[in-house]
Amino acid sequence: MADARTENRLFWEEEERKLEERVEMAMWPGGQSAVDRLATQGKKPVRELVGNLIDEGSEFYELSRIAGFGMGYPDVDDVPCGGIVTGLGKIHGRWTMVLANDSRVKAGTYFPITLKKHMRAQAIAERCGLNCVYIADSGGAYLPMQAEVFPDDQHFGSMFYNMARMSAMGLKQITLSTGGNTAGGAYIVFMACQAVMIDKMAYSFLGGPPLVKAATGEIISAEDLGGARVHTQISGGADHFCRNQDEAVARVREILSMEPPQQLFSHRYPEEPPKAPPESIYELLPAKIHQGINSREFLKAIADDSFFSEYKKHYAPGRGDNIITGKIRIKGIPVGVVAANGVGIIFVEAARKATEWIVRCSQEKVPLLFIQSSPGYMVGSESEHIGIGKYGADMVRAVSCAQVPRIQLVIGPDNGAANYGMCGRAYRPHFLFHTMRARTSVMSGRSAGEVLLSIEERKRAQSGNPMSPEELQAFRQQMIDKYDGEAHPFYCAARLLNDRVLKFREIRDWLAMALEVSLLKPIGEPAFGNLRF
Ligand code: COA
Repeated sequence: MADARTENRLFWEEEERKLEERVEMAMWPGGQSAVDRLATQGKKPVRELVGNLIDEGSEFYELSRIAGFGMGYPDVDDVPCGGIVTGLGKIHGRWTMVLANDSRVKAGTYFPITLKKHMRAQAIAERCGLNCVYIADSGGAYLPMQAEVFPDDQHFGSMFYNMARMSAMGLKQITLSTGGNTAGGAYIVFMACQAVMIDKMAYSFLGGPPLVKAATGEIISAEDLGGARVHTQISGGADHFCRNQDEAVARVREILSMEPPQQLFSHRYPEEPPKAPPESIYELLPAKIHQGINSREFLKAIADDSFFSEYKKHYAPGRGDNIITGKIRIKGIPVGVVAANGVGIIFVEAARKATEWIVRCSQEKVPLLFIQSSPGYMVGSESEHIGIGKYGADMVRAVSCAQVPRIQLVIGPDNGAANYGMCGRAYRPHFLFHTMRARTSVMSGRSAGEVLLSIEERKRAQSGNPMSPEELQAFRQQMIDKYDGEAHPFYCAARLLNDRVLKFREIRDWLAMALEVSLLKPIGEPAFGNLRF
């Protein structure tokens, strides 16, 4: 019989195998035949292009790889990878945001999830001060859903609004056009600081040949209407003419070769590996999601030298240590930690300590890492009377106003107001990562089942048709399944409620990247408004 640690490891390895399976599905939409079709057009699969674009031998930190699964759009359930590859890579040693349409997914058209992913990548770039490279190959808006992708804020037009504003801030917006860019989509070429087009492969026009014929009667080929020659030699809408993708990628690298180096706005200590191997996380974290965790042990597996300088370690044992606070270094970068501990229910003492710590880190201009594994704040009259509402609100206010980079990593339950206090999506962390142990929902399936059941039971009793024990059980189970399904990292990742589902062994590298990128801009001064104390 395997011991608990071995059971945990086997469980998490199997969960991450399922993750890998889903990632594979996203990487190869249409399988080999889609790759062969690209080859007939002289095109490489999009990740190969990205690989050539970034510095040789460097890593591409791809975001949201399993976005777009099970979306239930008209005629299309899955949009693998959201139809767009986004991520961070280094070009001439500078962190750069890359956004690349995958033309194998419905001609790279924009579904609502494609837009959300595009917007998220631009938001990270703007906030962290990164140049952007757009590898454009898209049929534009996914026309059956035009009302959901065209007219609103954060819809299609926002892509160009963002490009304009970022270029005004001095962030280079470079487009490599390697396919269709029709109608509104054409602006991805024309709005760029510099645009590269490929002969007989890239097209950009406000109306394609069929529309032109219908509107004016003119019969013209795509090449003559808006090909690379037209825009680099006649209209001037693009700046660089290339004969193939290799040449175009090299040109983009050349354009970015004289950018000034980036600066890290933090002292960086020499990097030291953790004494506890990251692999130990597989054994440490219980397979049962609601079982308590030992966050001090978890920190040892991600911190330089496994060193955690804890703040208020002895404060209010049993009530104050459901959240632990302190500093670690990750690859030499100091970071303030706010980590749920044990079962993670946040008591008044823990909320006050966390608020204090967030304010201190903000004063010191040290970034914050929220390690979330909390099902919520403590309920009940005792807790209410001593002010859990007001102290929880203080924590939420501190999280909202902290001007330092904030990163959230979810390794357990992520429910209710604890999602707010621990810097969930609505609190705009610079990066938000889930693991396969994350469960994000307003409450757990079990709690939701009981709440909804009590409502249903009352209604049925009032209507003179009380529920039978079988109906009670079936209803309860239905609610548990629904809530647990919606809290699952696959469901959340599909909808971009995280920036990536990390394997446990990836956590340290990704946190280091996220910290580095988040610290490329100077940190402003703290201001917290009306804390109640
Ligand atoms: N909306 C919805 N579906 C679209 C689409 C759009 N804008 N553009 C292409 N598609 C679909 C096609 O119907 C096809 O679906 P299928 O695989 O189920 O048959 C799939 O995407 C691939 O398109 P296809 O035309 O076969 O790819 P291609 O590589 O030969 O050509 C384009 C790519 C972009 C040049 C071509 O699809 C095109 O001109 N699309 C229309 C572009 C347009 O006018 N957009 C205006 C919206 S702003």
